[in-house]
Amino acid sequence: MEFIKISLQYAPKIALVELNRPKELNALNLQLMKELKEALASLDNDPEIHAIVLTGNDQSFAAGADIKQMSDLGAIDMLKIDQFSTWDQIRKVQKPLIAAVSGFALGGGCELALTCDMIIASETARFGQPEIKIGVMPGAGGTQRLTRIIGKARAMEMVLTGKFISAEEALSYGLINKVVPVEAYLQEAINLAAKIAKMSPIAVRLAKESINRAYETHMDEGLHFERKNFYLLFASEDQKEGMQAFIEKRGAKFKGR
Ligand code: CAA
Repeated sequence: MEFIKISLQYAPKIALVELNRPKELNALNLQLMKELKEALASLDNDPEIHAIVLTGNDQSFAAGADIKQMSDLGAIDMLKIDQFSTWDQIRKVQKPLIAAVSGFALGGGCELALTCDMIIASETARFGQPEIKIGVMPGAGGTQRLTRIIGKARAMEMVLTGKFISAEEALSYGLINKVVPVEAYLQEAINLAAKIAKMSPIAVRLAKESINRAYETHMDEGLHFERKNFYLLFASEDQKEGMQAFIEKRGAKFKGR
């Protein structure tokens, strides 16, 4: 892989996936997105991995879709390339996906972070949907996810003016989970992933799936979905072990069964 690095040495059961196109501030060209999709799919299928951290570098998480690659294309070219179907695949990752963001998270970069389940940011992180400044609009879920998370007024302002917001603002908008100094954001994201990796992977998977349903469905259907997943967990050994461990006042040993 040219634009994606995978490291497994940071913590047990955790994979770190790095976007690695630093000269272009990690602009998301088609090849990078293809490699990212493949990397995430293979980690999602690896039973040894329980959580994934996605990061860029200190200067840039990702500065958006590759403008140079798109500038001369027409509508039918864009339709045929269908680059955003890759984003759909990333949304389908079943394991927890935590974005560790520093520097620019713009356009598709912001949308990629929003596709993850949680975001840990450095104090230098800047979030924005600046597509309007280049005569287009967000195309990888920005108008939908951003609006649901931060509300119409703030989403309108970000998308229609292209303004960037700081990590602190993003935190106050409920867009991200935590802001830490730049030296600490990656470790903080890995620590969060490690906490989740200690839980039953089946319970984590169904809980993630159920929370995502909250965004995609009406309350009745969402509650029904949640309830089914909750009942389903009582078919797992991890449920028996988790509850027994509580009663016996000891730590649970989850097996993912
Ligand atoms: N696509 C292609 N190349 C990009 C890029 C992008 N999105 N963002 C940065 N680069 C390249 C620059 O062209 C430059 O390359 P050269 O050295 O070859 O000229 C290099 O990265 C460094 O960038 P700058 O010199 O511009 O760095 P800066 O510090 O002055 O500015 C920036 C940084 C504010 C992020 C600026 O690069 C910028 O505005 N980038 C574009 C941001 C943007 O509009 N993103 C949205 C893209 S469209 C989209 O994402 C659609 C969607 O919904 C998926």
